[in-house]
Amino acid sequence: MAHIANKCIVFIFFSLLMVQSFSTFAQSKKLDEKKPCKRLVLYYHDILYNGTNAANATSAAITNHTKLGNFEHGMLVVFDDPMTKDNHLLSPSVARAQGFYFYDMKTEYNAWFSYTLIFNSSEYKGTLNIMGADMMGEETRDLSVVGGTGDFFMTRGIVTLRTDVAQGLYYFRLEMDIKLYECP
Ligand SMILES: *[C@@H]1O[C@H](CO)[C@@H](O)[C@H](O)[C@H]1NC(C)=O
Ligand SMILES: *[C@@H]1O[C@H](CO)[C@@H](O)[C@H](O)[C@H]1NC(C)=O
Ligand SMILES: *[C@@H]1O[C@H](CO)[C@@H](O)[C@H](O)[C@H]1NC(C)=O
Ligand SMILES: *[C@@H]1O[C@H](CO)[C@@H](O)[C@H](O)[C@H]1NC(C)=O
Repeated sequence: MAHIANKCIVFIFFSLLMVQSFSTFAQSKKLDEKKPCKRLVLYYHDILYNGTNAANATSAAITNHTKLGNFEHGMLVVFDDPMTKDNHLLSPSVARAQGFYFYDMKTEYNAWFSYTLIFNSSEYKGTLNIMGADMMGEETRDLSVVGGTGDFFMTRGIVTLRTDVAQGLYYFRLEMDIKLYECP
């Protein structure tokens, strides 16, 4: 009798294992890079405070660069930037980007971003939390959407950055192509 019970337990165990691996398989199949469940393309405008443009600045450096190299290594910028649907700074803002970036390489320009996109419009209410390396020398860079709230509850995805305009350190505009692969 105990022998049969043991066999039974082993059978149940393997059945559970198969269900588990099948659902893992099904889930990984669902995530096709070319087929996001939601996509938004927005433009990010960063106007860095330069000592005289306080009325218009949307960001400010809170640490100075270090003496390592000539690429602003160590400079950390806090921002509260407008996000627009087209690439005009004066277009209506559809979200705010709040967070920081810092320059982290001594041999070339390279930054690391961590920020929240805050939506509070009739279209969307909620947040997207984004982080990752901005390898500025590349034509496009992928950052991670690590989560969301509200209309973006528990989402995940990828944000592809492309530099649209860079006027030195003091104004730059990024295209953010936001692709979500887990949608509420
Ligand atoms: C700061 O930026 C403003 C607006 O772009 C510009 O008019 C001004 O000359 C700049 N000041 C310095 C010190 O670069
Ligand atoms: C601030 O931005 C406005 C447009 O919003 C522009 O007309 C003005 O020249 C800017 N001021 C400075 C100092 O850059
Ligand atoms: C940052 O450091 C440079 C020298 O590397 C200096 O000229 C500049 O005044 C410093 N800026 C601030 C805001 O401390
Ligand atoms: C969102 O917008 C509404 C209406 O304009 C406003 O009352 C509310 O304070 C805003 N919420 C946030 C978090 O900005």
